[in-house]
Amino acid sequence: MRKEVRWVLTALAAISIVVALASCSPNNQQDSLNPRGPEAQKIDTLFQPVFWIAVGVFIVVEGGILYLSLRYRHRKGSDPSMPPQVHGNTKIEIGWTILPALVLAVIAVPTVTTIFELARKPTDPNTINVSVFGHQWWWQFDYTDPDIGFSDTVPLKTANQLVIPEDTPVYLTLQSEGGLITGNDPDYKVIHSFWVPELAGKQDVIPSRENHLTIQADDPGTYRGQCLEFCGLSHANMRFEVLVKTQAEFDAWVEQQRTDAPAPEAGSSEETGQQLFDGGLGQESGGQCIGCHTINGVNGQADMAGSNVAPDLTHFASRTCFAGCMFTRDGGEQAYRDRLVAWLLDPAGVKPGAKMPDYRLTDAEAEALADYLLSLE
Ligand code: CUA
Repeated sequence: MRKEVRWVLTALAAISIVVALASCSPNNQQDSLNPRGPEAQKIDTLFQPVFWIAVGVFIVVEGGILYLSLRYRHRKGSDPSMPPQVHGNTKIEIGWTILPALVLAVIAVPTVTTIFELARKPTDPNTINVSVFGHQWWWQFDYTDPDIGFSDTVPLKTANQLVIPEDTPVYLTLQSEGGLITGNDPDYKVIHSFWVPELAGKQDVIPSRENHLTIQADDPGTYRGQCLEFCGLSHANMRFEVLVKTQAEFDAWVEQQRTDAPAPEAGSSEETGQQLFDGGLGQESGGQCIGCHTINGVNGQADMAGSNVAPDLTHFASRTCFAGCMFTRDGGEQAYRDRLVAWLLDPAGVKPGAKMPDYRLTDAEAEALADYLLSLE
């Protein structure tokens, strides 16, 4: 073997081992083999037997190839003349046609049943309906049920973080939307894919089309999700979280989310932040946040059901992540605030391709804005 070839093979083997070992991570939060709800459980129940049948087929076929290539390999001193040529064996050929067909037929029954079960709209009267909009590059969640939202037409809105109660089916309606700059021009809409591995299968989010997915969780906790379809520069930064709460906690959350944003204290840094939010922002003094971001109680509660150009920030501080969940509170409060300031100062520098305009804020402006946003509990 040539030296280069051997080197490449060694490198490939090393990379494969690293990748394989990475799957053993104990704190892996996106593990579809660890179903935490009935929808994910249905998929796992189908996956397990199909996987082991596939392992059996793999061993028989690959083992046969290995055995035959070793058994009949050319040896030094073996007879160089052609071995007797056989045309085939009807019995074996019929066998290896029928056997795989039978295996496929057996697998098809639970597969088709599961596909239909997963696609069924939940009949539970407690089902919560949420409209999901995939944006470049963040997720918008509209709670369209009138008893959770503000009215029939004004839903409760969150971004990047979907909060749901345990043991309750949540029926998602998924749509794809363009970014801030591209508006609703269909040419700029892209395909996203919504996936919370521990709670459900993945569902594509396609422009000009409504897809559906049911998710449900057995226990409270935080479940990580991810966009699974390449959708542009910050595809990898298009994450989200599903926060599962007890019913009582969820009700309290809804109650709190329906309140207007708290007004800042007169003369405080938060108040300066709120004024900057309203306009006169940046070194060119033309910037404003209010044109794209809603804060209930500040620029009204005018959001109808449907796509928004930017996240609703009414209760920004009650969330535990921002900018497509690129930043979380994992590193502590100071680190969270530092990231927020960095994001405000240079959106596209922090998150490639970010559609949030860069108004060339001064450090003082970014600090005041961060103070204000972090006061929006
Ligand atoms: Cu959205 Cu990838």
